[in-house]
Amino acid sequence: MRVNKSLNIKRLEPSRLLKAVELADRVFKPKDGSMGTNFPVLFSKKNAHNILVIEEGNKIVSMVGMYYAYAQIFTSRIKVVFIGAVCTDEKYRGKGYATALTYEAAQIALKNDVTLMMIHGDNDIYRNFGAVDAGTYFTIEIKPMQKLHSHKLKIATDSDIKKMAIWHSKEPVRFIRTFANFKIFHKVGHTWDNHVKTFIGDQAYITVVERSDTYNCIEFAGEPNEVAMLIQNFANEHGKLTVHLNLGNKDCISRLLMEVPQRRQFYGTMRVLDKFKFLDQLKDYLDESISGTDKGMLKVKLSNFDDSDFTKIVFGSTEGSPQFTHEIFPIPLPDYHGMDYI
Ligand SMILES: CC(C)(COP(=O)(O)OP(=O)(O)OC[C@H]1O[C@@H](n2cnc3c(N)ncnc32)[C@H](O)[C@@H]1OP(=O)(O)O)[C@@H](O)C(=O)NCCC(=O)NCCS
Repeated sequence: MRVNKSLNIKRLEPSRLLKAVELADRVFKPKDGSMGTNFPVLFSKKNAHNILVIEEGNKIVSMVGMYYAYAQIFTSRIKVVFIGAVCTDEKYRGKGYATALTYEAAQIALKNDVTLMMIHGDNDIYRNFGAVDAGTYFTIEIKPMQKLHSHKLKIATDSDIKKMAIWHSKEPVRFIRTFANFKIFHKVGHTWDNHVKTFIGDQAYITVVERSDTYNCIEFAGEPNEVAMLIQNFANEHGKLTVHLNLGNKDCISRLLMEVPQRRQFYGTMRVLDKFKFLDQLKDYLDESISGTDKGMLKVKLSNFDDSDFTKIVFGSTEGSPQFTHEIFPIPLPDYHGMDYI
């Protein structure tokens, strides 16, 4: 589809936040629940101007939600935009509205130094835009074992948030969260269309969500032995648990639990928006891992690829990457289909 550039795309006025939530609820929550409650950071007055809308007769008929974040990848910090709550009122579909909003979101994000767009979903609109499956993620399946050393799991409370935020801030691959957002994410605790439960130990926590009768550990932080113990205890008490891992934390946790990690897809699509700016943001990571000459050569070779292939090369892809290898790739990336997309 060609992008219709004549459309009047606006940033949402904070005073019209409820109108945007109404559209999102009509599309995503036709029966019950509210997108505003489930995603309070995205649908906040502070973030309202990052929600792009198209109106017809003063009525919001299409929208794209943007939310800025930083991905910490060991020593480097990449500016990311999360894209979610993309919807068009049923009566106005097929007119190119969501397409135009997605492209506009990318333009605005680029002007704000964003180099990576992570999209909550996979459809023609995002694929036409050049977003791809990328990111190297894994799961391990933990089955119940004899309860010999099991301790009763303790649910985390508000008074545990301070400790949890500190443990989380020490994870080498994560999205940066302010303390205030950390608190909101864990208080709201809604993800994967369900409420999460967080279990706390003396030096670690794990966060679990149930989906389609399967338990998933979507976040953990703290002392690795205790993380592994909490995970095993959860499986012993509740049944099989799927643990989601990224390239930065998979080796330690899977070894401790003696499970071989299985590769899994990113639950959405993503695209590097500007490969040269992206490499600039990755500078500290590159400087630590490869020589200056190697870095120069790498940049020249990578300039031959378009943004979609570049995204696959850098982060890895289950769709198959173009013919290009370098020992530095894939680099780890935190997964935003956990507690951060709120
Ligand atoms: C997906 C959605 C936002 C598209 O809105 P829209 O304004 O009609 O989109 P556009 O007119 O810009 O683009 C339509 C294109 O997307 C494709 N498309 C439209 N709806 C789609 C859907 N539900 N799933 C996959 N692709 C879809 C069309 O095939 C069309 O492709 P084309 O370029 O080959 O013509 C809208 O159908 C919607 O609100 N769906 C329900 C919510 C949803 O699924 N949101 C996406 C979350 S990932």
